[in-house]
Amino acid sequence: MKKITIAIDGFSSSGKSTMAKALAREIGYIYIDSGAMYRAVTLYALRHGLIAPDGTVREEELVSALPDIKIEFRYVTPGEAAHTFLNGEDVERQIRGMEVSNAVSPVSAIPAVRHDLVKKQQAFGAAKGIVMDGRDIGTTVFPDAEMKVFVAASPRERARRRVEELRAKGRDVSFDEVFENVVSRDRIDRSRSESPLRKADDAVELDNTGMTIDEQNRWLLDLYNQRSQS
Ligand code: DC
Repeated sequence: MKKITIAIDGFSSSGKSTMAKALAREIGYIYIDSGAMYRAVTLYALRHGLIAPDGTVREEELVSALPDIKIEFRYVTPGEAAHTFLNGEDVERQIRGMEVSNAVSPVSAIPAVRHDLVKKQQAFGAAKGIVMDGRDIGTTVFPDAEMKVFVAASPRERARRRVEELRAKGRDVSFDEVFENVVSRDRIDRSRSESPLRKADDAVELDNTGMTIDEQNRWLLDLYNQRSQS
């Protein structure tokens, strides 16, 4: 069967990564979490003192450090999704914490950061057979993708899912703190001038607020079966 490119965009904590990973596993495609790449750049910036406590990014310094930031995905545990590596170090856990979540939106609004990561994402997808999730995959990274999905869910539901996920990993977070982060990331992601989060005209929208994980996975697999045959 001919390999296609699958772009899954949507709001933070909308469940798009869960869906994207499950589909890639089911159909034997590569899965790339583009958000992890923005998170890895943010972790680098935090570690190098390039983000002030008020969230201001030392943009010029970060941009000139971009050639020194090497991001890779490596399989660590069989059967699990790949981990994100920053300059050879497994940073999968660190990039999911609140410190990075709170700082990532301004970093991902910097045009030179986006250009650099978009180029890397396009290289990952050059041979097709890829599922990539993010905010601008269907609009900017792979505008010609054969299958595009835009995932939404209510902000409360997304915050609830994120709290559950973080607590399952042993993180002590409050609902209010996470809700605030979800709402503020939505606002920055949608209003930035460079590749704002928006549904591509030819994307299929899914609001999964009331759906189970199984239901959304089945919905996505059905769509893939239609698209890969046409
Ligand atoms: O999907 P995520 O929540 O892990 O993404 C982290 C941040 O990175 C998110 O706030 C917006 C940004 N992002 C982006 O701007 N473009 C992408 N393709 C993916 C993520």
